[in-house]
Amino acid sequence: MNLQTLSLSHYRNIVILTGAGISAASGVPTFRGENGLWNDAEFLRASDAANLPDSLPMVWKVFGGLRALAETIKPNAAHYAIAEMQRRHPTKNITLITQNVDGLHQAAGSENVIELHGSVLRSRCTNEACVAKPFEDLTSRTQVPLCEICGAPLRPDIVLFNEMLPPWESHQSKRALRDVELFLAIGTSGVVNPAAQFVSSAAYAGARTILINLEAMQPRNPHFQEEILGRAEEILPLLWKE
Ligand code: OAD
Repeated sequence: MNLQTLSLSHYRNIVILTGAGISAASGVPTFRGENGLWNDAEFLRASDAANLPDSLPMVWKVFGGLRALAETIKPNAAHYAIAEMQRRHPTKNITLITQNVDGLHQAAGSENVIELHGSVLRSRCTNEACVAKPFEDLTSRTQVPLCEICGAPLRPDIVLFNEMLPPWESHQSKRALRDVELFLAIGTSGVVNPAAQFVSSAAYAGARTILINLEAMQPRNPHFQEEILGRAEEILPLLWKE
């Protein structure tokens, strides 16, 4: 791999957006592509909030399986490279936004990760009037569990299709994008909004924009000024200059 290293010295406000491709080397399946989760009809049905509440048993079956997987997997060199870069630059504003629900950035040591699509490692009550907060839940469930406070069904604390993004995470992402100087998107096909639009916000803010992905984005997004094609776990440990 003939890789130009990237000097961070010119940038103070950095936003990193990650997708399923960064966790591929850890054994997490991506969504699209040959063996992607979207090829599984049950996964598709469980991922659409339009099918709730009838689909809750399936949601637990599918995402309970992902939770069980998330507990056995380990971060890879790409997650560690980002965490290390954050540690080495405590004075920079480095905002890490992930579309992944696997908790691997935190496991690698990254703090303040914005989980745009939630986390399979948490559960929350389906009753919006309930006072229960989302809570860490590592139990691999096969049945629909019930809320200890109000008795309504619990669900994994993830964002399904046709659902709004969590407001705090959405707000923090937009804030970071307002004055971003360097924007990196890593391991994402760039087709799911609103994350797919982040690069255009970054470009309008005047940022340098780089895509690091196994394959070129289809169709190409003109807001990415640079593309580094290859495996995130091979590229990231070599990327930063300092
Ligand atoms: P996708 O599965 O759509 O895209 C993953 C991208 O990672 C693909 O373009 C692959 O080429 C690339 N890739 C695979 N292995 C890689 C590696 N080792 N290094 C670098 N790149 C690699 O996943 P996302 O873009 O994350 O949303 O999908 C976005 C959202 O779509 C997900 O968060 C999920 C899904 O529907 C919800 O569940 C709400």
